[in-house]
Formats: sequence, C-alpha cells, structure tokens
Amino acid sequence: MSSTSSATRVLLGVAGGIAAYKSAELVRRLRDGGAEVRVVMTESARQFVGEATFQALSGHPVRTSLWDAQAEAAMGHIELARWADHLLIAPATADLIARLAAGVADDLLTTLVLASKAPLWLAPAMNQQMWAHPATAENVARLRGRGVRLLGPADGEQACGDIGPGRMLEPAVIARAVLDGAGAGDELSPLTGMPILISAGPTYEDIDPVRYVGNRSSGRMGYAIAEVAAQAGAEVTLVSGPVALSAPFGVRRINVRSALEMQAAVDTELEGKAAFISAAAVADFRPAVVAGSKIKKGDASLSIELVRNPDILAELSERAERPFLLGFAAETDDVEQHARGKLARKRLDMIAANRVGVDGCGFESAENAMTVYWNGGEADIALADKRDVARQLLILMLARMAEAAKPGDAA
Ligand code: PMT
Repeated sequence: MSSTSSATRVLLGVAGGIAAYKSAELVRRLRDGGAEVRVVMTESARQFVGEATFQALSGHPVRTSLWDAQAEAAMGHIELARWADHLLIAPATADLIARLAAGVADDLLTTLVLASKAPLWLAPAMNQQMWAHPATAENVARLRGRGVRLLGPADGEQACGDIGPGRMLEPAVIARAVLDGAGAGDELSPLTGMPILISAGPTYEDIDPVRYVGNRSSGRMGYAIAEVAAQAGAEVTLVSGPVALSAPFGVRRINVRSALEMQAAVDTELEGKAAFISAAAVADFRPAVVAGSKIKKGDASLSIELVRNPDILAELSERAERPFLLGFAAETDDVEQHARGKLARKRLDMIAANRVGVDGCGFESAENAMTVYWNGGEADIALADKRDVARQLLILMLARMAEAAKPGDAA
C-alpha cells in the first residue's frame, strides 16, 4: 500500500513500560509536525495504555497482533513494514531492546522491524539499573553498530523513585529528532563512522581554592553539536569544561577544568580525527599564581596578575597534519570583521560567528543564530534551537570538507 500524500510516514511501536502513556502525546507531536502515524502496540504495552487512545490520536486502527485476520486483510504486516519511512519505538524497554539485538521476531512489532528497510529509532525507557546493566549496554552497542538511532534516555527521577539515566525523552524532543532526521538524514550521512573532536563549555581558571575566573558558556551549543553528530553516526569525543549537562548518548566525554587541561586533552585526542569543532569558550587569561589557601579580604582592593593562556586552536592549526578546523567566534559587534580576522589569524577552515550580548542568543540560551564564514563564502543560520543550528552547521561543515577533498582544490 502506498500513501498518496508526501507526509513522512512514521510507524510508532509502543512497548510495555510506564512511559507508554507519553507515547500518546508523541503521536500528536508527530502529526503536528506533518507526519502520518500508525501505531503498533506490544501485548505488554496494552497493560499500560488502551488501544482506543492511540487509534483516536493517530486516526488509524492500532495493530497489536500478527494473528488478527481482519487487520491483515486490510493491510498485511509486510505491507505495513514497507509503508513506513521511519520506524520509531517509544518507549523501547530493556526486553524489547534485547529481542531486537538478537533479531528475534516473535510478535508483530519485532517482525515489522525485521521486515522493514526503514531507519529504526529507539527511545529507551527503563529503570536506571536495567539501563546500566552490561547486558543492556551490549545490546544497545550491537544495535548502534547496525545503524539504529538512539534517542536518549534522559537522566532524572524515575517512576520507580530511582534517579539516573533511563527516563524516556520528552515527546516533543523525540518527534523533533525523528522529523529533523527524516529531512536531513542524507545530508548528515557522511558523518557515519567519522571521528570528530568537539570542545564545549567554559574553562575555569583558579584564583585560590574557592574562587576562579570563568565565563557564561553553558556548554549547550557544543553539546548540541555532539548530540546531533552522534545521532548521525559520528564517533564523537567531547572535551568539556565544567557544565551542568549530561553527556549525550553515545558520546565519549572527557572532563576538564582549565584552558591548560583542555589543551592537553585536545592534544591527546586529536590524532585520527577528521574534524575539530572548537565551541568551547576558552579563557584567554589565567591568574599568574594560584593561591594555596583562600585569599583573605584584608585590603580595600586586590590585584590579580593574569597571564595569557595558550590559544589551543591557533597552536594546532600550525601542525602539518591537522583535521578540518571549525572555530567559533563570540562577538558583540563588527561580527564579520572580527570573525574573518580570526579565520585568517588562526588559519581555520571555517568559523561560526555568534552574536553574544543579545537576549535569547549565544551564551546560556536554548537558541542561537550565527553567520558561518570560510574563504570565499558565508552562510547565515537563523535563530533556532541549538540542535537545529547544530544540524545546519554540520551540513555546512560537511559541504566544505567535501569541497576541500576534491583533487586540486586547496580552497
Ligand atoms: O556554551 P553556550 O552557553 O551554549 O554558548 C555557546 C558559545 C557562545 C560559548 C559558543 O557558541 C561560542 O561562541 N564559543 C566560542 C567562544 C569564544 O571563546 O570565542 P573566541 O572568539 O574567544 O575564540 C575563538 C575560537 O578560538 C573559539 O573556537 C575558541 O574555542 C578558540 N580559542 C579561544 C581562546 C583560546 N585560548 N583557545 C582557543 O582555542
């Protein structure tokens, strides 16, 4: 059966976990985003939510069994598997993940997964101990190795009272990821298997055991790039300054505090990487001396001598063997002039200039806007959620990398 509309067709599988109630909202979010949705529930999912809810929200009968003669007559399960542009399972329980990893097809949902060529997205939801169990970790790694895209899980308080990773991501986040992925899957596909190094967050330069010089970077921009790249299949290493964010799923994170620590980590991790994306707000100066004990407020004023930190990007751009270098510039005015100056001085392949000091943009905020410059070109990325901005930036980066790889093109 083929649809006459050009809407993205999402087959939503609902497995048996308490988060199944959130999947009802997920259907709405997907449909609001323009998708056509059909729902398949496992037997256990029916213990948590009724079929009627999904039927009303999706506008189509809900399938639950391979052995429903009436439903098979209307649209056989193989037809249903072919109908889907995307398979999304939310919540994906530990049991379902294990069965998928083993290639089991003992119910309608697992049979559909084997019978479909469509990209498979999983939004895991389970107790944090079950998520941390080596068996689940192995199963997830196997599925990722087959190109399955993982969405979450999120960290936080769970229905059982535990705290930790295992909560299903919010429906709006899942819907956006799938719909974005549906639109940009091909454009990001060169990232599959590509080793990338990303830096994010601020650096803290200690003054004494309780004080430091820092800045307002939350790490959100760099983490969004890491998340989108990892979801597209890149092997992402994230060197992170002190932030209050969890590492995106599938991303290897190395925590650092100061600019010198960040430089050492970047140095160690750079080998073999195809690109380095330097989104970190590295402090340009650090105290010349770190006091061993807390400085007392004896006098009316206090002077602290600052010395220059190394410029991590500029130093590594001098290497003969260097990956594609994408720098950031945080500017308040004369954005193009300053950004192009840094592009040239630091010998970068590309620079993303964001205007900071504007409400809702740049530091700390959930959204960003930027102009990206390279030798001979530029592109604007309009104000949007940092994940959307990250996706557009990665598409631009891949285009430049492809251009640079063309024989005889040194631009
Ligand atoms: O973290 P968020 O709250 O999400 O905010 C995101 C952001 C605004 C911090 C981010 O988008 C950004 O602009 N990061 C770079 C900010 C910055 O430090 O710009 P800069 O103009 O000082 O540095 C230019 C480039 O050189 C940057 O890629 C920086 O990582 C790098 N640099 C800077 C100084 C230094 N000593 N070593 C460096 O490698």
